Amino acid sequence: MRLTGKTALVTGAARGIGTAFARRYVAEGASVVIADINLEAAQAAAESIGPKAHAVRLDVTDQASIDACVTQSAEILGGIDILINNAGIFTMDPIVDIKRTDYDRVFAINVSGTLFMMQAVARHMIARGKGGRIINMASQAGRRGEALVGVYCASKAAVISLTQSAGLNLIAHRINVNAIAPGVVEGAHWDEVDAHFARHENRPLGEKKRLVGEAVPFGRMGTAEDLTGMAVFLASDDAEYIVAQTYNVDGGNWMS
Ligand SMILES: NC(=O)c1ccc[n+]([C@@H]2O[C@H](COP(=O)([O-])OP(=O)(O)OC[C@H]3O[C@@H](n4cnc5c(N)ncnc54)[C@H](O)[C@@H]3O)[C@@H](O)[C@H]2O)c1
Repeated sequence: MRLTGKTALVTGAARGIGTAFARRYVAEGASVVIADINLEAAQAAAESIGPKAHAVRLDVTDQASIDACVTQSAEILGGIDILINNAGIFTMDPIVDIKRTDYDRVFAINVSGTLFMMQAVARHMIARGKGGRIINMASQAGRRGEALVGVYCASKAAVISLTQSAGLNLIAHRINVNAIAPGVVEGAHWDEVDAHFARHENRPLGEKKRLVGEAVPFGRMGTAEDLTGMAVFLASDDAEYIVAQTYNVDGGNWMS
């Protein structure tokens, strides 16, 4: 129970890693808002967790939606102690085929969404005067480029950079901003990634997933639950002196 009495807003939490974060936070004593563009799925996720989980609609590309979600979440929870910026999308194309619309969408969600959620919640936390924790979801994809993944890799490199700048700027208000960089994580997201690879590299479905899992030094792909310990630690009192860092939780894929 390392988060007893704490409150958290988790974006993109209607499925996958975000739902696992919300579930673990509640198990650790927190109350959570599951904020997602898919309200129906967010409500189902909240119901599966229990009465300390609440669903709120959020489109991180829309400033009015961000502002409304932060206000509503603060009302439901009685103030926001922790923000996890988890909403994110993926695209894959060789450089010569990247469409401007795909680039704009990925950057609107992964980068602008992360920045303007941080801004809105930081304003709330500063006005409240109790500090807070912000955890951004980066990726091993943000550590180096990949031939077919230029847009997503660049967006996650931007998340790492924004985590550094926001971390340095907001610690004066006792708001710690840090990030988690997962490697390859089982779930619907990676099933979609696998389908992209199957198309671009002319592979059978499932083959890329098997290969990337075998290549992880730990010996398998990660699960959403593998990431929850770091999300609890970064939100806990034990992480008070940690500022502007990005932690790899990837079974040994990347070292930095
Ligand atoms: N799965 C992996 O292997 C992996 C690896 C590294 C990093 N990540 C990152 O972790 C985070 C979560 O990944 P996941 O695998 O759970 O993804 P996912 O696709 O399963 O879930 C993403 C969630 O974000 C929501 N969302 C999409 N657009 C939104 C918007 N505009 N506003 C609000 N919500 C929106 C979706 O509805 C969905 O519920 C993402 O930022 C992803 O880039 C994932």
